[in-house]
Amino acid sequence: MKIGVFGAGYVGLVTAACFAELGHQLMVVEKNKEKLEKLKSGQNTIYEPDLDELLQNNTKNGRLTFFLQTETVVENCDVLFLCVGTPPKEDGSADMSQIESAIIEIIRCVSPSAYKLIVLKSTVPVGTAARLKELIQFYKDDKQIEIEIASNPEFLKEGVAVDDFMNPERIVMGVSSQKAAEILQNIYQSFSCPKIVTNSNTAEIIKYAANSFLATKISFINMVSDLCDAVGADVRQVALGMGYDDRIGSKFLKAGIGFGGSCFPKDLRAFAHAGDKNNLNFNLLDEVIRINNERPAKMVNKLKDLLWVLTGKTIGILGLTFKPETDDVRETPAFPFIDALLKEGAKVRVFDPIGMSNFKTMFHQVSEKIDFASDEYGMSENCDAIVLVTDWKQFIGLDWDRILQNMNLPVILDTRNCLNGEEMTKKRFIYADTSFNYAKSRR
Ligand code: UDX
Repeated sequence: MKIGVFGAGYVGLVTAACFAELGHQLMVVEKNKEKLEKLKSGQNTIYEPDLDELLQNNTKNGRLTFFLQTETVVENCDVLFLCVGTPPKEDGSADMSQIESAIIEIIRCVSPSAYKLIVLKSTVPVGTAARLKELIQFYKDDKQIEIEIASNPEFLKEGVAVDDFMNPERIVMGVSSQKAAEILQNIYQSFSCPKIVTNSNTAEIIKYAANSFLATKISFINMVSDLCDAVGADVRQVALGMGYDDRIGSKFLKAGIGFGGSCFPKDLRAFAHAGDKNNLNFNLLDEVIRINNERPAKMVNKLKDLLWVLTGKTIGILGLTFKPETDDVRETPAFPFIDALLKEGAKVRVFDPIGMSNFKTMFHQVSEKIDFASDEYGMSENCDAIVLVTDWKQFIGLDWDRILQNMNLPVILDTRNCLNGEEMTKKRFIYADTSFNYAKSRR
């Protein structure tokens, strides 16, 4: 089937490449000319394992094509996935301008008496599809066209997005006609996972509720981690003990410096906004956000516990991205953490396997005040402490004896609870994670 995709970002590019890999004919509209030229030559514009090969193969075999203009895509495709950005505005609500301009473009290009199914894959506020149906009647004026709106939210985790797309745990389709349901069932017929066919409001709430619940699990275990820290308990063991109950599950119970990324923070704020807009008490989500926003400062305080005075100290930072296996630094907790260290008068030297250039671009003011090391060992030279901020696998397998030799003081704060405290302590490090201070336990 010929499928149109609007937006070649993290979601649009993965969606288009995977649909092409499954045999569909994909036509992608991308308005950024520089990005467009790269994609046309099969060059990837985001860091996502497994995506490079899909892009190269499918641009080569002609199943994946990219366009600046909307006309050709709308003329050739009856199903149009909107994967454009819906970034948060100041008040937490989603900025829908890219959705609106895509819809207006599509209406302008649709030939009379044609049928188009517009599928919202971008994360949109509850009620968007219903609202767009009204707007389309308004925008199309007396043009005799039939445009339908459906919701098909994505559940892609960065770093594993291709696998998440190809092996989804469920597919959610929010539709308002049998015709739209059949079209989406046909597109997804090769997927064996459960498929939920419902109305668009329900589909939109499933997306926000799922992300908000995952974020709630994280803030919950972070809250528990603070109690463990206060009384000398080990939050990793608490999470282990909780997770054996399959009603809780062990995933997303890793305490740390907090969640970041372009989804959880944005979706939580948008879901809380949906509650407010409907005069509902969604204060639970405000607490989830508050706990998360306080994590970086709590980690600064833990570092102060270990070093006492931060002024003039050299702190090495391992990891800048919001999670491993991505170059994405959007809403990374590394930024507020480093900013607070600088305000304490500390010197900061950082290393990240692939996120440093994005960090410099997104946080240029802070970046001018810190040093960027070429590798973990350069980062550790003459450090008074090292703080692990992103749990990249390669940090776990470092030559920690060599790092210890490089450091002024042997202090390690592991804000992702991913190193082995016993082993680090045996190596003569003064090691602490988010809950258990091995140094204290030795005193
Ligand atoms: C998330 C959802 O998982 C995905 O389903 C949705 O479609 C998009 O948003 P993503 O933001 O890419 O995916 O990454 P995810 O793996 O969920 O991690 C989000 C943040 O939570 C990261 O900063 C990660 O470090 C943090 N996290 C995750 C924890 O702090 N503890 C955990 O146990 C798990």
